[in-house]
Amino acid sequence: MNLQTLEKTAGEMVSPGRGILAADESFGTIGKRFDALGIESTEESRRAYREMLFTTEGIGEFLSGVILFDETIRQEASDGTPLPQVLLDQGVMPGIKVDGSTVDMPLAPGEKFTQGLDKLAGRLEEYREMGARFTKWRAVITIGDGIPTARCVDANAHALALYAAFCQEADLVPIVEPEVLIDGDHSIEQCYDATEWTLNRTFDYLYEHGVELSGMILKPNMVISGKETANQSGVEEVAHATVECLLRSVPAAVPGIAFLSGGQSALQATQHLNAMNRLYEGRLPWELSFSYARALQEQPMEIWGGESEKVEAAQKAFHHRLKMNGAARTGSYSDDMEEAA
Ligand code: G3H
Repeated sequence: MNLQTLEKTAGEMVSPGRGILAADESFGTIGKRFDALGIESTEESRRAYREMLFTTEGIGEFLSGVILFDETIRQEASDGTPLPQVLLDQGVMPGIKVDGSTVDMPLAPGEKFTQGLDKLAGRLEEYREMGARFTKWRAVITIGDGIPTARCVDANAHALALYAAFCQEADLVPIVEPEVLIDGDHSIEQCYDATEWTLNRTFDYLYEHGVELSGMILKPNMVISGKETANQSGVEEVAHATVECLLRSVPAAVPGIAFLSGGQSALQATQHLNAMNRLYEGRLPWELSFSYARALQEQPMEIWGGESEKVEAAQKAFHHRLKMNGAARTGSYSDDMEEAA
């Protein structure tokens, strides 16, 4: 393990004003998103869609990295340039999702376990040769009747730590993503408790496995009310609950926290990140950044709709969303910026 390399990459991933695009949807997930818009999911449509995103002019100003899916890291732009090289040409680092998605957690109804540790070391080697500089593994924690259980939280935290250790050994920065889902009618307090618990157990296992905290990035959910509850918390409430929870569970040695959007609207995800950076300016040990999939892609995907003549309009919308989140990185975003655009 080369700690200097890991720290340098991790630092670049959360460099000022920039964040990460998660474009690592599995076949099932992108299929669902395309389906909802009447776009056929084929190898070519997925390639064309991602080429549209990655060739948007000027993305390097707001993006430090893009998380790719196994199919995408092997694909080429229409002019024959490998997609990871397209990103590098934009000043953006390619990363790769390496988990094998979730399965039902055995003997734990309603809970999920993330698989994918088998043969991981070999796969990491291959991805590094293909240009990847960092990786991602997502664990899922569900709030519900009697859940999450300790067996689910611990099993996922343990797998995350082992994954992170394998990655650091291969000189790839692990993005550690324990996601407490927004689905359900739970309160923001229940989300706080589940998130604090999950993060504490995750850092316990990271410590046990010798993972260097200065060479990783954390990708958590924000602390937020469940999507189905009538009692939705306001922007500042989410910002305070999230940062207070993180201050109690994330060691200061971690260079950056890059949130997932988790089903929030694009506007909410920007407003929440902005509020955190504005309210806690100069008082946090880590960078607070974004690593959104849906909150960055929703509008461009809808505009693109699978049609090549819509590429320019979709790229404009994508660039705008990136710019708004770039501003949220410093707490300088305002609703007027949306209107002005
Ligand atoms: O694993 C999930 C993605 O990396 C983040 O996706 O921003 O749509 O929650 P999201």
